[in-house]
Amino acid sequence: MIKKAIIPAAGLGTRVLPASKALPKEMLPIVDKPAIQYIVEEAVNAGITDILIITNRGKGVIEDHFDHSIELEAMLEKRGNTEVLKELQRVAKLANIYYIRQRETKGLGDAVLRAKEFVGDEPFAVLYGDDVIIGDTPAIGELCDAYEKYGKSIVGIKEVSDEFVVKYCSLKVEKLEEKNYAVSDMIEKPKLNEKFSNYAILGRCVLDSEIFNILENTPLGAGGELQLTDAMAVIAREKGMVGVDFSGKRYDMGNKFGILQANIEVGIKHPEISEQLRQYIKELAQKL
Ligand code: UTP
Repeated sequence: MIKKAIIPAAGLGTRVLPASKALPKEMLPIVDKPAIQYIVEEAVNAGITDILIITNRGKGVIEDHFDHSIELEAMLEKRGNTEVLKELQRVAKLANIYYIRQRETKGLGDAVLRAKEFVGDEPFAVLYGDDVIIGDTPAIGELCDAYEKYGKSIVGIKEVSDEFVVKYCSLKVEKLEEKNYAVSDMIEKPKLNEKFSNYAILGRCVLDSEIFNILENTPLGAGGELQLTDAMAVIAREKGMVGVDFSGKRYDMGNKFGILQANIEVGIKHPEISEQLRQYIKELAQKL
């Protein structure tokens, strides 16, 4: 049973500036919750109890969000606003959450390497801080189940268009069963003539702790950064990995369009605003 997860959230978020200048992009809301809360809840719903969030300068508000706010709670109690009070208290108790800083923004691989001591010698889950996945079952739980089944490191995958393959990565895959694929190689940000397939990793993986030794010996890759994909490619080639085409829908909160999509799609299902938003979209659509 996988109990530990890490959430790298130390990126610069340059694609959503100026929104992400003083506010971490992981704190951008989807209706009424910051993106990172959806991610922590996904991990908790998959049975994960200990979460390390990798932050950097200016991301202290993430720590505040998962902490008690004594003044706010006292005020809500005084006003008898028990529903919101209970929700805030629930958020502050979601999991054992730890924080570490990535001192220099040297890439996702370097961010993951900061978790070496926290993880120790067990398999662990990685949930990228700007990838929110909404579904009936927690996506990371589907990956953890696959880890138990195959005993190999797992990546969450989806088929994407060429436009995104060159921005993300490309996997060499062969179908195993249902939504599971054997992954024997991968390349970060390939040119189109270098791609293996249109399957890319989207925001989730379950890795064996051997990844840390590999990362320590991986040269800087695309963009002059230490790329997690380059280290995972070593495992894929040597031992093989398994790709799970998870069932939920993923929203890229590091991207302007992804933020809007998430807000609209979550909004139309949100009990408080569903009706109002549906009506509004219908009226608006007639004018488009
Ligand atoms: P991105 O590739 O989205 O990079 O990172 P970014 O720097 O955050 O965003 P842009 O491209 O400048 O807009 C994917 C995930 O890895 C984390 C990010 O926080 C995000 O969750 N990351 C990236 C780190 O933790 N450290 C890094 O050095 C780079």
